[in-house]
Amino acid sequence: MKRIGIIGVGEIGRAIVDGLCDGVEEPPEIYLSPRGARTAAELSQQYPNVRVCTDNQDVVNRCELVILAVRPQERAEALAGLRIGSDRVAASVMTGVAISELRRTLGTGAPVVRAIPLPAARERQSVTVTCPSHTAVDDLFGHLGGTLPVADEATLNVYQALTATLTTHYWYLATLTAWAARQGIPAEDADRYVRGLFQGVGHALSDETRSLHQLAADHETPKGANERIRTTWFDTANSDALGKALDALLSDLK
Ligand SMILES: NC(=O)c1ccc[n+]([C@@H]2O[C@H](COP(=O)([O-])OP(=O)(O)OC[C@H]3O[C@@H](n4cnc5c(N)ncnc54)[C@H](OP(=O)(O)O)[C@@H]3O)[C@@H](O)[C@H]2O)c1
Repeated sequence: MKRIGIIGVGEIGRAIVDGLCDGVEEPPEIYLSPRGARTAAELSQQYPNVRVCTDNQDVVNRCELVILAVRPQERAEALAGLRIGSDRVAASVMTGVAISELRRTLGTGAPVVRAIPLPAARERQSVTVTCPSHTAVDDLFGHLGGTLPVADEATLNVYQALTATLTTHYWYLATLTAWAARQGIPAEDADRYVRGLFQGVGHALSDETRSLHQLAADHETPKGANERIRTTWFDTANSDALGKALDALLSDLK
């Protein structure tokens, strides 16, 4: 697809545009909705292949594949009255919005696909779950780190629940840093140290020949300090609580 439209130019819209354009020799033409005006203006100044449209219908009219990326609570306003011809493809990245609902709202015969791009699309490192598989959508996200097509929305929802754990991970790191600061370590030193510690984890994760449990074992001395924190803090009760929170989210996503 040579002409991509994006309705809703916020965090994830920007990540997609950056991933498709930054340092790319022949990027696609990209048409942005006018809302999210500041981000849209910045992107159109940054990349010559990116243009801001007059309204959402103008985005659809100009593109072959339109990405719907508004916040779920704003979908009614953003999609009301939008006409997407059956020669277009619609890819929704909106969390928890079912294909059946999108079809009803849009009243279109066009293929409607759901996708879960990650912010790492910016660095072309997002493995994007798609459902149902569609060549144009899978190809687009293939350029942004890879595509993982799944057969049904129940499966997509499980992946969606996993993505909801991402910010908890940052808060975990912030909590460690705050604890160190309470022990009298300058906050900026603690921050720098914790970032360095966990950048190593990111690097180790790229070795897919080692299972996650093997990676943990690689970093753990039997009866040592890591094992002590893992078993005393991330104990069965903690692990069960996480499982229950994910179960509840999954049930809401259904
Ligand atoms: N962030 C992520 O990592 C991520 C990952 C996967 C999926 N998603 C999904 O992607 C969607 C967007 O998330 P986000 O984090 O990018 O949100 P965001 O940063 O808040 O961006 C949403 C954008 O939609 C714009 N918008 C609101 N109403 C609109 C309308 N009627 N027409 C056109 N644009 C409109 C907003 O413009 P204004 O600023 O003018 O209000 C804003 O720029 C959500 O449904 C989310 O579930 C997000």
